[in-house]
Amino acid sequence: MTTGTAIHVQGLEKSYKDLHVLRGVDFDVARGSIFALLGSNGAGKTTVVRILSTLLKPDAGTAAIAGFDVSAEAQKVRETISLTGQFAAVDEVLSGRENLVLISQLRHLPDPGAIADALLARFSLTDAGSRKVSTYSGGMRRRLDIAMSLIGDPPVIFLDEPTTGLDPAARLEVWDAVRELAQGGTTVLLTTQYLEEAEQLADRIAILHKGRIIVDGTLAELKQLLPPAKVEYVEKQPSLEDVFFALTGEEDTAEPGDAADAPGRKGAASTRKEGR
Ligand SMILES: Nc1ncnc2c1ncn2[C@@H]1O[C@H](COP(=O)(O)OP(=O)(O)OP(=O)(O)O)[C@@H](O)[C@H]1O
Ligand SMILES: [Mg+2]
Repeated sequence: MTTGTAIHVQGLEKSYKDLHVLRGVDFDVARGSIFALLGSNGAGKTTVVRILSTLLKPDAGTAAIAGFDVSAEAQKVRETISLTGQFAAVDEVLSGRENLVLISQLRHLPDPGAIADALLARFSLTDAGSRKVSTYSGGMRRRLDIAMSLIGDPPVIFLDEPTTGLDPAARLEVWDAVRELAQGGTTVLLTTQYLEEAEQLADRIAILHKGRIIVDGTLAELKQLLPPAKVEYVEKQPSLEDVFFALTGEEDTAEPGDAADAPGRKGAASTRKEGR
C-alpha cells in the first residue's frame, strides 16, 4: 500500500451462514479519487461497505482506511470516514436544519448553526431548511443525507447507492455534490447499479460479480476490454433521458405542454448533452 492509498482491500471474504457472498475481494482506492463499485442486486456491495465502515467483521482478508485496519483500529477508522447508507438516515420529524445541527452537536463542533446553514446552502436546501423532512422529496432527502455525512469533514466517504430511486434531475444534483467532494480532496467510494453513474463520476470502476472483483480500471481501460467499436452510420435518436428532460422541462423554463408539439424542443435536448 502506498501513501497515496486511501482504501486498501485484500482477500476479503464474508459468508452469511452458507451464503458465500465475498470470496476474496481486492482493490485499492487512491486518495482524493472517486471509486465506483458496480454490481447487480445481491452482489455484495453493501456487505463490502459495511465491512469498510466497521459495521461488520470480515471472515478473512484485510481492509484499511487511511492506513488504519478496520478490525484492529476500528475507532480510528470511524473517525476517518462517514457513511451514507442505502436507505436515507435522516430524522423525519426534525427539519433539515435541525438534523444538521443535531449531528454537528453530536460531533462537538463549534457553531453548529453556522455549519448547518453552510451545508443547506451548498446543497440548495436553504429554502426548505426549516421544513420537516417528512415533507421533502426523495432527492431532497438524499441531498440532506449526504450533507449530514460531510459534517466534520471526513477524508473518506462511502455512499451506498446514492441515487437509487431518484429522478434524473435529482440524480444530476447528487452527481454534482459528489464531484464537488472529490474536487475538495475527499476520497469517495460509491456503489451503484447504474452504469452511467459510474461512467459520469468515477476515476476508477470495479465490478463485483460472484464474490470477486472481475474488472477494475478506468473507464477507458474497461472499454478496451471489448473489441473496437464498428463504425456504423445511424440517424441519431434522442435518448430516453433527452426525451425526459425535453418533456418535463426540468433544465429550462419551458412548460411541459410545449414539449410534445414544438419542434424546437429537440434543440433543448441536444444542448443539454453538449453541456456535460
Ligand atoms: N444480514 C444478512 N443475513 C443474511 N444474508 C444477508 C445479510 N445481508 C446480506 N445478505 C445477503 O448477502 C447477499 C449480498 O447482499 P448485499 O446487501 O451486500 O448486496 P448488494 O450488492 O448491496 O445488493 P443491492 O444492490 O440489492 O443493494 C445477498 O444475497 C443478501 O441477501
Ligand atoms: Mg446494497
